[in-house]
Amino acid sequence: MLDAIGRAERAEQWIRDAVRHGEKVMGFGHRVYKTDDPRSVFLKEVARGLGGPLVELAEEVERTTVGVLAELKPGRHLYTNVEFFAGVVMHTCGIPRAMFTPTFASGRTIGWSAHVMEQAGANRLIRPSARYVGPPAPRRVPVP
Ligand SMILES: CC(C)(COP(=O)(O)OP(=O)(O)OC[C@H]1O[C@@H](n2cnc3c(N)ncnc32)[C@H](O)[C@@H]1OP(=O)(O)O)[C@@H](O)C(=O)NCCC(=O)NCCS
Repeated sequence: MLDAIGRAERAEQWIRDAVRHGEKVMGFGHRVYKTDDPRSVFLKEVARGLGGPLVELAEEVERTTVGVLAELKPGRHLYTNVEFFAGVVMHTCGIPRAMFTPTFASGRTIGWSAHVMEQAGANRLIRPSARYVGPPAPRRVPVP
């Protein structure tokens, strides 16, 4: 989508056209999160740290899209989901596009496997939830 938009000044018209044609804007909206997806907030920071033209374009497109969706789809609370900046980060890290989905998926296989085992254990529909019991996150050491 960012390739198709190409330049920040084309974003508004591109998004308006897509929504008017009944298309979903990729990387926006989530079944559960009706505010910023926390993973998206985190990945945006990672993207900013990496920097580069695609990151700048993505931030402009995000701003524009949130505004256009608020106008054309009022009350739906559509913001970036995890995919939007994940794609930007993976591209900026040099991961080939064909590997985006496998890369994204590989980080989830532990959780998916746990859910399969949980489901298979009782063979009843589960409502997946998770409780983290590992060590606390490492603390950032300030650079002197
Ligand atoms: C993720 C998604 C399926 C969640 O959908 P949902 O919560 O079930 O929301 P709905 O599909 O019921 O949509 C509710 C309304 O918001 C609109 N909407 C939702 N996401 C939208 C998007 N990305 N762009 C434009 N409009 C969107 C729908 O068209 C619908 O409008 P309507 O009330 O006029 O019919 C949906 O937001 C989507 O398809 N997003 C784009 C694809 C994407 O990024 N997928 C990765 C998700 S992790």
